[in-house]
Amino acid sequence: MANKYDEAFEKSIRDPEAFWAEAAEDCHWYKKWDKVLDDSNKPFYRWFTGGELNTCYNALDYHVDNGRGDQPALIYDSPVTDTIKKYTYTELRDEVAKFAGVLAAQGVVKGDRVLIYMPMIAEAAIAMLACARLGAVHSVVFGGFAAKELATRIEDAEPKVMVSASCGIEVKKVIAYKPLLDEAISISASKPEKCIIIQRHKETASMIDGRDIDWNEAMTEAKPHDCVPVAATDPLYILYTSGTTGQPKGVIRDNGGHVVALKWSMKAVYNMDAGDVYWAASDVGWVVGHSYIVYAPLFKGCTTILFEGKPVGTPDAGVFWRIISEHKVNALFTAPTAFRAIKRDDPEGEFIKKYDLSDFRTLFLAGERSDPDTIQWSEKNLNVPVIDHWWQTETGWAICANCMGLHHFPVKYGSPTKPVPGWNVQVVDPECNQMKAGDTGALVVKLPLPPGTLPTLYKNDQRFRESYLDEFPGYFKTADAGFIDEDGYVYVMSRTDDIINVAGHRLSTGAMEEVLSDHPDVAECAVLGVADKLKGQIPAGFIVLKAGVTRSNDEIISEVIKMVRDRIGPVAAFKTAAVVKRLPKTRSGKILRGTIQKIADNKEFKVPATIDDPTILEEMEDALTAIGYAKGRE
Ligand code: COA
Ligand code: AMP
Repeated sequence: MANKYDEAFEKSIRDPEAFWAEAAEDCHWYKKWDKVLDDSNKPFYRWFTGGELNTCYNALDYHVDNGRGDQPALIYDSPVTDTIKKYTYTELRDEVAKFAGVLAAQGVVKGDRVLIYMPMIAEAAIAMLACARLGAVHSVVFGGFAAKELATRIEDAEPKVMVSASCGIEVKKVIAYKPLLDEAISISASKPEKCIIIQRHKETASMIDGRDIDWNEAMTEAKPHDCVPVAATDPLYILYTSGTTGQPKGVIRDNGGHVVALKWSMKAVYNMDAGDVYWAASDVGWVVGHSYIVYAPLFKGCTTILFEGKPVGTPDAGVFWRIISEHKVNALFTAPTAFRAIKRDDPEGEFIKKYDLSDFRTLFLAGERSDPDTIQWSEKNLNVPVIDHWWQTETGWAICANCMGLHHFPVKYGSPTKPVPGWNVQVVDPECNQMKAGDTGALVVKLPLPPGTLPTLYKNDQRFRESYLDEFPGYFKTADAGFIDEDGYVYVMSRTDDIINVAGHRLSTGAMEEVLSDHPDVAECAVLGVADKLKGQIPAGFIVLKAGVTRSNDEIISEVIKMVRDRIGPVAAFKTAAVVKRLPKTRSGKILRGTIQKIADNKEFKVPATIDDPTILEEMEDALTAIGYAKGRE
């Protein structure tokens, strides 16, 4: 007999309009849609055209109006400032309405962009929801990016207002945000009219007269603003993500499809009901933070946790268990790297034993491939199902998962299980022919993508087509490679482009190469991801110096490392580089990245038939060994 997953999956593919119309009935609409799926402009698809709603209403007011006003909506837990603050649905709605009033007083209206550059404090979520309340489009930029990266995003999004804080706190380090913000604005051709700054106790930002506004002062004077109805197809946010160049891609999310898909996913994927406590230990600057710290748990009427800390060091590897126990968390979602950090510091799980985790039901992992060791350690020590699931900034929610609210399939280590209903995942060869079970190829999704996914890239339909649609006509290219086994389990093995995943953070090696190439002594370079026990991958740079350069290699290496930190940010974790005489290339001049990567990771490799000079590989191996890779690896 078919289980609930099979039934839902089959219906979602056979009749997507009926499937998603039913899910949409669970959301609040000022005006119902005219068309569930609008395919009048293929390959661009739109969901719920003609419909009108407000995302913030669905996240907050809806629950206040339906008797959930006194339930905690958001718990801010910050071991780095020793603070726990709880907001009920009514309190959060009121704060958000007030901040919407602050933005409106600065002239922000529907369609205007607001850029949010904030640490993990409740005000970050409040600012996002306030934008949604007004129909303004937020663009949140992760705090670990440098001023130059922030400037690129300001220039593209052209925000009317920016919202930031005086500082972020990274374990014990206080990172002043305001100088980065000021520098970014000075570099960018587009300038915001106003900056609203929250002054934190650990750092006071200097304010620019006439441009900068103090968050707290503005809030005391603010008039609450009501929800503004928007079209289902209007943008809710732009989230920039790494592409293959230094120019990030502005992923757009619409309002209608997003509410429908995310609310539905809370039960289907995570098995969460209203009133449950859900914790995504990520950052609001990433897609996981948008979807599962802020929006989805609130759409569902859950309590969401906003955590300002790290899995280890704030104060120790027991902080996750303290939070789960103290706030009665039912499901945790984080990146495998966080668990590798905990496992490293507490291999026997001693901290786990100190806490009552009886409310904890499921651990979800995503953001990078989950290594079987980490999953098994977590299963053994936590005694709950550990669910790997696969998704991307572009998709906004899971493509493949073990859908805990539909049917719990047996886990196969190394696989995020099966396509989630709505996702017609296939494996194809370069000519777009479907491959047979077990054979590795490009992982693609048959169009149309389900609701909640990117309709296009901000101001760039052309790049959207080129990046995702042109290579495999009729399909969305995920840029991940993998296979589907005989039982329909999907395996995601590697990226097909130059994106790497460092501690669950998505980074472009192409962008790092652009920085290295700007060094006056560098003739040529390559950056690639090499295996790292904690972070999964870290970037390693190889540089060939210009003829006649006589300065010491160490000096040049420390300069390029500093350049990447200054131009991309500390989050790039670019700390390893080597000077080499030449880079291995094919006869047509393509750098053999895959081969270098295998040498670095001390894996077996075949000397490529197309290589111009195989002796370079030995030089490469020596260079890698000297910096602790290749034969230097255990
Ligand atoms: N603002 C400013 N700087 C930041 C930052 C932020 N929001 N986030 C990270 N950084 C800095 C860090 O301080 C560090 O700087 P350093 O080079 O001076 O030490 C650098 O960026 C790299 O940070 P990170 O990748 O977090 O490494 P780490 O060594 O500090 O911590 C882990 C390692 C595994 C504990 C940490 O990466 C982690 O918690 N990962 C989970 C990731 C996650 O949740 N991803 C979301 C996807 S679901
Ligand atoms: P991001 O856009 O930052 O969410 O990164 C998306 C990329 O992370 C994907 O394209 C994958 O390469 C990788 N990724 C995310 N989740 C998984 C997973 N569960 N298994 C394997 N890779 C994953």
